[in-house]
Amino acid sequence: MSRRPTSPTPSPASPSTTSPGPAGRLPAAADGLALIKPAVQSQSGYSLAALQARRKLNQNESPFDFPPAMKQEVMEQAAAQSWQRYPAFAPRDLQQAIAAHYGWVPDGVVVGNGSNELIQATLAVSLRAGDVVVAPSPTFSLYRLITGVLGGRYVSVPLGENFRYDTGGLIDAAQEPARVIVLNSPNNPTGSALLPGEVEQILARTGALIVCDEAYQDFGGPSAIPVLAHSSRVIVLRTFSKAFGLAGLRFGFCLAHPAVAEQIAKGKLPYNVNLITLAAARVALRHAAALGARVDELIAVRERFLAELRRLPGLEVYPTAANFVLIRCLAQPARQVFQRLHQQHGILVRDVSAASELAECLRISIGTSDDMDAVIAALREILSEGGRNRGE
Ligand SMILES: Cc1ncc(COP(=O)(O)O)c(C=O)c1O
Repeated sequence: MSRRPTSPTPSPASPSTTSPGPAGRLPAAADGLALIKPAVQSQSGYSLAALQARRKLNQNESPFDFPPAMKQEVMEQAAAQSWQRYPAFAPRDLQQAIAAHYGWVPDGVVVGNGSNELIQATLAVSLRAGDVVVAPSPTFSLYRLITGVLGGRYVSVPLGENFRYDTGGLIDAAQEPARVIVLNSPNNPTGSALLPGEVEQILARTGALIVCDEAYQDFGGPSAIPVLAHSSRVIVLRTFSKAFGLAGLRFGFCLAHPAVAEQIAKGKLPYNVNLITLAAARVALRHAAALGARVDELIAVRERFLAELRRLPGLEVYPTAANFVLIRCLAQPARQVFQRLHQQHGILVRDVSAASELAECLRISIGTSDDMDAVIAALREILSEGGRNRGE
């Protein structure tokens, strides 16, 4: 029989000792918080309300589950292993398979628990207190958060017209000098991609570590992987969460010069990728051609969706090379369009309109053809009805 743990002795300083339950017995937070860095306390945490919907188009996930036959392969491989043993720290066969598939050297591959872990590891091993990280704005918010947690200084360079990269602006901002420049291409949440040659230009005119986050590169835009052969200041981050449909298993990797990769590996926790995820990564690579066909299908759906979106009145539709599209609502508040999509049509998109550059913007992930037809039909209805005075 299990016994409930005894509750902590209430602190005399606690303001709420009268409320019922353990929460009412919590001590005052101030003592603990005084020891947390102000730079951390001033950051907003990375989180997302877990809303449910029939059509989930808010996290740029694949609409296709990992195929059942491939899941079976993963489970068989995982079941054949000893679960009481730690997984390999740097699984050689997987490093080799990644290197062969992406055209790099095995010693230059670092595997991570999602590419998020490698963003953190890269910044942890490179940034000193006060060091500058230059990044476009808007971009993936984790870069700002981790820079703040590590005591770095985050410098944003606004994207240009149609959210095009302002390479000149990034180069100028990096003259401070910057320690790290973040280039997320295609960029989340705008979908804009760098043009061929722009990474090389930024590399040539700055002295920073260039972190090329290619979470969405399978869907479009040039890759910086060829640039790895020309400079040890370039790092490429990739993930299996999007194109390969493995977000739930958390697998990403970093490609870098082997000497730099060895240092980035020091910023990760040991045994960071569990053996089931390692098995899934091997299976995904073995079936890369079949998984790639699903990416081609999503690109075709995206192009059809973009064409249909552009026919709808009251929207500005931005160019995208990713598996999502950014739209600006011109005729109705984005919050209202978001709510009606969700509540009346069961479609969950991402409301990004709180950021000043993204006022009235929504980001819509590319789902199945059926999902995107449903989005078009719903938007057509919402936009044709107007709604500023519907009291919603
Ligand atoms: C630009 C970018 N980088 C990295 C990630 C994280 O991917 P992972 O699931 O591999 O941690 C995301 C996830 O949304 C992203 O948008």
